[in-house]
Amino acid sequence: MDRQWVTIIEPFRIHSVEPISITTREQREQELERAGYNLFNVPGPRVLVDLLTDSGTGAMSSEQWAGIQRGDESYAGSASWFRFRDAVRELFPFEHVIPTHQGRAAEKIIFSVLGARGRTIPNNTHFDTTRANVEVSGAEALDLPVSESLVPSSRHPFKGNMDVEALRRVLAERDVPVVLMTLTNNSGGGQPVSMENLRAVREACDAADVPLLLDACRFAENAWFVKLRENGYADTPVPDIVREMASLADGMTMSAKKDPLGNIGGWLALNDDRLAEQCRKLLILTEGFPTYGGMAGRDMDALAQGLREAVDEDYLRYRIRSTEYLGEALDRAGIPVVLPVGGHAVYIDARAFLPQIPPLEYPGQALAAELYREGGIRGCEIGTVMFGRQPDGSEQPAAMDLVRLAIPRRTYTQSHVDYVIEVCEYVAERAGELRGLEIVEEPPVLRHFTARFAPL
Ligand code: F0G
Repeated sequence: MDRQWVTIIEPFRIHSVEPISITTREQREQELERAGYNLFNVPGPRVLVDLLTDSGTGAMSSEQWAGIQRGDESYAGSASWFRFRDAVRELFPFEHVIPTHQGRAAEKIIFSVLGARGRTIPNNTHFDTTRANVEVSGAEALDLPVSESLVPSSRHPFKGNMDVEALRRVLAERDVPVVLMTLTNNSGGGQPVSMENLRAVREACDAADVPLLLDACRFAENAWFVKLRENGYADTPVPDIVREMASLADGMTMSAKKDPLGNIGGWLALNDDRLAEQCRKLLILTEGFPTYGGMAGRDMDALAQGLREAVDEDYLRYRIRSTEYLGEALDRAGIPVVLPVGGHAVYIDARAFLPQIPPLEYPGQALAAELYREGGIRGCEIGTVMFGRQPDGSEQPAAMDLVRLAIPRRTYTQSHVDYVIEVCEYVAERAGELRGLEIVEEPPVLRHFTARFAPL
């Protein structure tokens, strides 16, 4: 037996580096004013540790770069397409794989076909682009998470689960064309869905004869949590867990910018021939020919390799442990975080951290701005700014006000994370002095990307 070392190392060496330019607090203060206190408006080179998203920000491996060189750019039927399609079907054996440039393009296509006024599309929790694409189709985007999902301090091991009883009621009462399950549940704290819950959702869908699609961006992290936490999976290889999850669904949408370790890419996969045909027609209008969709041949090769690396257990052990390392340190420092720590990100509970700031003065946005001001760290508000504006134009507090510190894959080292911890501790000492923000400019949808704020 190999000795189990306590220290889990990064299972890679660094192959090329990208310099970070160090900024002063004064420069960052000016940046914040220029950006209207919205970190989406801050230029990347002005950020020290960029935890805005884990999407497209990971480091590719030497074999993925080799795949980029191997790319075949034939318009139709390139060798890269076949390598990509086979790698997707190795883990997700759906009949039809429809390539897109990223996840939201797959969402746009499927909801253009299945969404319509009067219809309801349930999900454990819709992510922002998913919700927006459902709503643009005229349908209602309905979140049905289990109640533990909304309690940041609850230690339930599968807080990404769906409330199956609520789903059954919705299926009985409303016009539901499709049910979605997001693995892991990003808006709900990067929390996993158990195989047991997925099976129960499948049964509810079968009883109502409604198809089930996975929004599977973080499928490998979800599978790793199933292996760690769910009875009966400790000895199951991760690829088998992934195939079992896929076997419970009728298709999937995918952003390949997350677990598949790509900088760009995505797909829609379906078993239904007629539905796939309708989707391919839309694909050709806006994405591209069905053997490349929105991607270059080289991107598809990078993803074929990335999919193999995503389910490597040494990688997943390191990946999940490094996120947990940050979350545990913040928890120890008395900073309220969503527990257990999720897969791709640590979520600070800004509403609990800054109780003096009411939800409609955006505690998450205020905290994100402060972490940037003090330490050049860029996180992302997931709260009332992102979800507070209702389709009827009114505004309500979101279920939670979180700041997500998303960890790009294989990009930062432990000392970067130690720096983030130090900055958070410094901000925590002064938390009582922080004030809220007001919105001075906002677009009608997806306002969090471009809204401008002023301090109160
Ligand atoms: N579904 C989920 C659960 C996501 O997290 C995202 C993107 C998408 C769909 C859309 O994919 O960006 O490729 O179009 N989430 C990113 C994030 C942007 O920061 O969490 P996309």
